[in-house]
Amino acid sequence: MNQPPLPPKVKIVEVGPRDGLQNEKEALGADVKVELVERLARAGFVNVEAAAFVSPKWVPQMATSAEVLARIERRPGTIYSALVPNMQGFEAALNGKADEVVVFGAASEAFSQKNINCSIAESIARFEPVAKAAKANGLRLRGSISTAFGCPYQGEVPLDAVGDVVARMRDLGCDEIDIADTIGVSTARKTQAVMLRAAQEFPVTQLAGHFHDTYGQALANIYAAMEVGVAIFHSSVAGLGGCPYAKGATGNVATEDVLYLMQGLGIETGVDLDQVVDAGLFISQQLGRKSISRAGNAIAAKRAG
Ligand code: HMG
Ligand code: MG
Repeated sequence: MNQPPLPPKVKIVEVGPRDGLQNEKEALGADVKVELVERLARAGFVNVEAAAFVSPKWVPQMATSAEVLARIERRPGTIYSALVPNMQGFEAALNGKADEVVVFGAASEAFSQKNINCSIAESIARFEPVAKAAKANGLRLRGSISTAFGCPYQGEVPLDAVGDVVARMRDLGCDEIDIADTIGVSTARKTQAVMLRAAQEFPVTQLAGHFHDTYGQALANIYAAMEVGVAIFHSSVAGLGGCPYAKGATGNVATEDVLYLMQGLGIETGVDLDQVVDAGLFISQQLGRKSISRAGNAIAAKRAG
C-alpha cells in the first residue's frame, strides 16, 4: 500500500491541565494549575486545554476553572481551551475569556449517557446553541468524540457510528474534531480505519487524535494516524490522569514521549521538550508521585548524571 509521507509538522494540544488533572484523585489548588498552564504555554504549545465548565458535583477537580482562566498570564498566540457541555458552561467560558470552547459527545450511546447524562442526539441538540454562540462571539469551536475506538460499556463501536457523529459535529460548524480513544484500546490498523472513516466526513487535516495509553498503544496509534494524514494530537504532560495504582485508571499519552518521537522523526512541533520535562517534574512533585512519562524520566535521569 502506498502511504503518503508523514506530515512535516504536527500540532500538539496539551490537555494535561484538563484531562489529566480531572482524573487525578488529588484535587490541586488553582495556584498550582495556573503555574502549570503558564509553564506549558511558555514551552511553546499553541493550544493548552486549561478548563472545563462542567458540574462540580460530577467533576470536582475542575471546580477552579474560572479562577484558573482569570489568573493565568496569557501568551499572545496561545489558544486556551475550555470544555463546555451546555450553555451554562459556555457562558462561564465566555466570561473567562476562553479562546476556544470544546463540546464533547460520544460515538457510543452508553458512554454518552454515563458521561453527560443524555443521548447522542440530545447532546447534539444541546451543542447547537453553544455552537451558534461560539461563532457569534468569535470563539473557536472544537468537537470531541469519546469512545470512537471502543466503549467500556458497549464494547465495539461501529465505524459508521463514528462517521455519523463526525458529520453532526461538522454540521455544527466545528473548526476541529477530536477522535478519542477514551479507554486506550485501539491498535495501529484499527486507528487508521477509524481515522479514514472520520476523514470521509471532515478534512483529515482538522481531525485530532486523542489517545489514552491504557494498553501502551498510544504512540503506535499516533504514528499510524500520521500515516493516514492526521497532524493534530493531544497529550498530557507527565502522562497525567488516572492513578497507576487504581484499577482501570488511564492517562493520556505523555507529552514528553510524543515530543521525543516527533524529534526523532524530524517532525516540527514548535515545543521545547526540556521545558515540558521541567513542567512534568513540577506537576509530579505537586501530586507527590513520579511522572509516568518514560521519556521525561529518562531525560531527568540523564540530567542528574
Ligand atoms: P445533568 O445533571 O444532566 O444536568 O448534568 P442538569 O442540566 O439537570 O443540571 C444539574 C446540575 O448541574 C444543576 O445544578 C446545574 O446547575 C448544574 P443543581 O441545581 O443540581 O445544583 N450544571 C452545571 N454546573 C456547572 N457547569 C455547567 C453545568 N451544567 C449543569 N456547565 C452535565 C449534565 C453535562 C452538566 C453533567 O453530566 C456534567 O457536568 N458531566 C461532566 C462530564 C465531564 O466533565 N466529563 C469529563 C470530560 S469529557 C472527557 O474527559 C473525554 C475527553 O477527554 C475525550 C476522551 O478521552 O474520550 C474529552
Ligand atoms: Mg480524554
